Amino acid sequence: MSRLVIISNRVAVPKARGAAGAQGGLAGALNAALKKSGGLWFGWSGETSENPSSEPHIGTYDGVTMATIDLSPHDLDEYYNGYANSTLWPLFHYRIDLARFERETGRGYERVNERFASSLAPLLEPDDVVWAHDYHLIPLGEDLRRKGFTNRMGFFLHTPWPATRLLVSLPYHERLVKTMLAYDLLGFQCDEWLTSFLHYCEYELGADVDEESGRIELDGLTTIARAYPIGIDYQHFKELGETGEARQTAQRVLSSTRHRTAMIGVDRLDYSKGLPERLDGIGRFFDRFPERVQDLVYIQIAPPSREDVESYKRIRAELEQKAGQINGARSRIDLVPIRYVNQGHTQGQLVGAYRACKIGLVTPLRDGMNLVAKEYIACQDAEDPGVLILSRFAGAAQQLSEALLVNPHSPDDIAEKIRQALDMPLAERKARWKSMRNCVRDENIQRWTENFTGDLDKLVR
Ligand code: G6P
Repeated sequence: MSRLVIISNRVAVPKARGAAGAQGGLAGALNAALKKSGGLWFGWSGETSENPSSEPHIGTYDGVTMATIDLSPHDLDEYYNGYANSTLWPLFHYRIDLARFERETGRGYERVNERFASSLAPLLEPDDVVWAHDYHLIPLGEDLRRKGFTNRMGFFLHTPWPATRLLVSLPYHERLVKTMLAYDLLGFQCDEWLTSFLHYCEYELGADVDEESGRIELDGLTTIARAYPIGIDYQHFKELGETGEARQTAQRVLSSTRHRTAMIGVDRLDYSKGLPERLDGIGRFFDRFPERVQDLVYIQIAPPSREDVESYKRIRAELEQKAGQINGARSRIDLVPIRYVNQGHTQGQLVGAYRACKIGLVTPLRDGMNLVAKEYIACQDAEDPGVLILSRFAGAAQQLSEALLVNPHSPDDIAEKIRQALDMPLAERKARWKSMRNCVRDENIQRWTENFTGDLDKLVR
């Protein structure tokens, strides 16, 4: 069997694993994907150093070999804070108002991709299957091809793919997207992003596109694009639920909320997650039903993210202000409606908190998939499951259609869905949860890995 080589910007090296909330869904998912098959995981160490060595630092943890390189502060600034997180991330999340277009950061992005390729090259065997992940590493496949690698190569985008009319605002967009045709297989989280990608290839690149099979042909290159909705390690979450850590956390939440229903949100502190809009919705709920302040407590876990990027500093300040305002207006001497927590939590603690909270509130303005929604479902008690309120703009909404789907831009809709969730009869909660639980259990991370790598295996170069 071929070895699987996964490349992503962030690698879940064990020292970073504790703060699971802060590292986002990608690192946790890839860790689970590799645990079964073994293999190599290559990426950035999360550290910066002046004149970093191109030779990776290698360690093996639970059968997974992790090879990482440091980045220089300059590279980090142009590639990670710059092009990846100030240009592509906002653009891919339909926030062109926040996107910055600068030549230097674009060059830095290409330079770091080239560095990744050069550092990885000596570790690659001819039989390896290479699988690159996310918007940080779009040109990596082409860099490897230029170095003569003919391995099977796939790429998976964890974020949305924007509509063509938005993407064309990116200077040199054709140059970036054409590099994707160096991969044999391209994966997207759901049909909506896939369709936008195929549309772009056909109408902007002038490629030959077969929508049925996802086959794209241009200038003698052929690639296949398909949707592969990512899942979670369902079994792992079930087992975590049995741990003392999860039980204690659940107990702490329950004893501190007592007769009130606890509602939870867990998000990296990112403008794509719709956090200020969510707080507006909660504020609207209390405005419309003031007597229900004693029924509900909202726990928002929001570990800070990408703190050197200006738009992230602003969103943090805005949230602090909003949470403070609502609490100031609605608190009583013995009751505070919103608990706003910036700390990251371990997975075990999150599992306990999910279980103790009878409403899960997941309202991104745009999200590739959103694994918190799936984690919340996995952690519910079958006899008394909670209600998931889910943004219709998250990729997950295509699978979890039994959630209460909400328009995250509408405070009235959020308020109404909270009311509906609070009043939902047990039989309805059970029926909705069961169908979502089946999906989360069956369409899990192992299945996702098998589907993608299986398809990549079948493709003959
Ligand atoms: C999202 C991205 C991932 C990223 C994660 C955490 O899920 O799709 O690629 O790793 O956020 O963000 P960070 O910038 O801390 O890696």
